[in-house]
Order: sequence, then C-alpha cells, then structure tokens
Amino acid sequence: MMITSSRKKEHLDICCNEDIVAGRTGFDDIRLVHNALPECNMDAVELGVRFLQHPLKAPIFIAAMTGGHPDTRDVNATLATAAEEFGLAMGVGSQRAALENPELEDSFIVVRERAPHAFLCGNLGIIQLRDKGAEWADKAVEMIDAQALCIHLNPLQEAIQPEGDHNAAGCLDALQELCSSCRYPVIVKETGCGVSRECARQLFAAGASAVDVGGLGGTSWAAVEQFRAENPMQQSLGLHFAGWGIPTAVSVVEVARGGGPVIATGGLNSGTDIAKSIALGASLGGMALSLLQPAMDGYQSLCDKIQQIQKEIQVSCYLTGSRNPSELKNVRKYITGITGEMLQYEENNL
Ligand SMILES: Cc1cc2nc3c(=O)[nH]c(=O)nc-3n(C[C@H](O)[C@H](O)[C@H](O)COP(=O)(O)O)c2cc1C
Repeated sequence: MMITSSRKKEHLDICCNEDIVAGRTGFDDIRLVHNALPECNMDAVELGVRFLQHPLKAPIFIAAMTGGHPDTRDVNATLATAAEEFGLAMGVGSQRAALENPELEDSFIVVRERAPHAFLCGNLGIIQLRDKGAEWADKAVEMIDAQALCIHLNPLQEAIQPEGDHNAAGCLDALQELCSSCRYPVIVKETGCGVSRECARQLFAAGASAVDVGGLGGTSWAAVEQFRAENPMQQSLGLHFAGWGIPTAVSVVEVARGGGPVIATGGLNSGTDIAKSIALGASLGGMALSLLQPAMDGYQSLCDKIQQIQKEIQVSCYLTGSRNPSELKNVRKYITGITGEMLQYEENNL
C-alpha cells in the first residue's frame, strides 16, 4: 500500500526536477488562419463553455496530477483554489493510494474543500477498475464529491514500470460495465501516448462520456520511469519508448472522429495550443506539467500562468474573428509538416 503512496511522491519529484518531456505535439505544424478583419470586439470575447452540462469560465482543464501522499496535499490545495477562482475543471491524480489506505484521503479531500463549486473529476486506473470493480469507482467519486470520474489508460507506463501490470485483458468489459451502471459521467484518458480513432470508437461505444487524448509531446511516462528504473534494461526501455505514441494534435482529430466530446491534453503549454485544439475538434484543453511548476512555486505564480493562458485564448479568438471558443471550431487552419502528412494519411484510410 505504501508503495503506491511513495510512488506518487517520487513521480512528483521527478516531474519537477528532471527533463521528462518527449516527442512533438504537432501544434507547431498548425496555424489558425489570421483574420485581418475580425469584425468583433476582443474585450467582449466570452471564454465560458459548457462541458458535460456544466458551465466553465474557460475551456481549461487542470489535468490529473497528484494526491495520495501527505506531501502532495499542498499542491492539490493550490491547484484547487485556482480551479475555484477561475471557474475551471480539475482532475485529481489516481486515488488508488487512498482507496488502499483511507488515511491518505486528506490529500484528495482538500481539493473539494478548496473548490466547492468547481467541476472536479476523480481518478482511477483501468487496471484497478477491472480488478476492484465499480465499488472503487464509486468510492473515488464520493471521496471528493466529484462531478465525473476519469479512468486512466497507461499501458506504456505499466509496461516499463518495475511493478507494472502487464495484462490489460478484460479492461474494455470493465469499462462497459461501469458506464452502464454508474450515475456519473466517465471520462477516459490516456496519459501521454494518445488515443487512436479505433480506440476512441471502442471507448465511446462502451459508454464513455468524453475522451481525453493525453497525447504525445508533453510528459512522457516512459521518460519518468527511466529515472525509477531498477536495472539498465528498464532504464533503456524507458529511453527507447519515450517518444512512443500519437502526437496530441493528431490524436485530437482522430478522437473527434470517434464521435464524442474530446479533451486535448499532452504537451499543451499556452492558450494558443488550447485554441488550436478547439479548432481541431476538442472541447477543452488540459494541462498537467505546464501548471505543476507554477503551482509548486506558489498560488500567485499559478494565477499568473492561468491569466496568461486565458489572455492567449482570448487574443486567438479575436484574431480568428471568433466571439467565443465555439466559433473557433469553424476557423480554417493550415496543417503542415509531419502532422499534415499523418492527418492526410488518416483521412485516406478512413
Ligand atoms: C506529476 C504528474 C502526475 C500525474 N499523475 C497522474 C495520475 O495519477 N492519473 C492520471 O490519470 N494522470 C496523471 N498524470 C498525467 C496527466 O494527467 C496528463 O495526462 C499527462 O501528464 C499529459 O499532460 P501534460 O503533457 O500537460 O503533462 C500525471 C501527470 C503529471 C505531470
């Protein structure tokens, strides 16, 4: 039990102190077409959106990061305070440690205490869902009075982790069973390798209410696990697979074709990345690593980062003649480079 908890702390330390970003998101290959005659008022751009029937003040998702170790409580409290103040959605990190040991619940419960009105998402791995069933899923939601539950997929990390689970058989059935019986929306998320069109279709058919692409180009769990490797073979496996996956921009398009709401996460670092994601078909843009360091630096630093992101979304809307994020969906874009080639290839093989 304590292994799960101390792993959470190790992950946080590695993400803060080591270079664990790998691959390319593809956002560099995407340009929103500039509108020299926007015919709207920038100061009247309205950033508010609805997501799974909940109003958010901006299309920003604070992606799942932490909790489950006493030392993670403060950063969760800081992130949650910002989610409340800025009206954003927020996910907590995997609640497995607290489900194994209720003494650790505090590092999660603080999130609801600090964000009484925010759209909060619980978090559980699909392996734990398969092995422990809907009872754990319900408990995770109850623990923080969440509006939704994120089920995370991380086969690459499990493959490389010294203590990882290497058998993913039965996971889709477990998801389907949960979705058919639970009363809350289930968001399925990858954690840095992206989701393909085929996989998205399976997830939506199983009853997922939304898919978070968690694509390549940001935090790489293969890179993170390289720093926890117990032998040279595990270390070189981590290095070798650090660039594995579907770039975030490509995954957004693939998942959007799967037919349901999409969250774009994986290497997003600016409001422009969020605007591009929305233009590609996402409803929200999520960020983990880009918000972690500011949150560790303190509340003001996190607020500055969020305000910067909001402003960048607002200016991106204005310069494309969009009065709100929904109108970004109709903006024309140039897609070049490897991202353009991948999407062209994808389209030819629909
Ligand atoms: C320190 C840290 C811890 C994370 N822990 C979790 C977790 O417990 N559960 C989960 O679903 N995702 C977790 N993630 C993955 C993120 O939610 C996200 O999918 C991934 O990091 C890609 O986004 P990014 O490039 O903006 O970091 C974590 C990310 C970071 C940086």
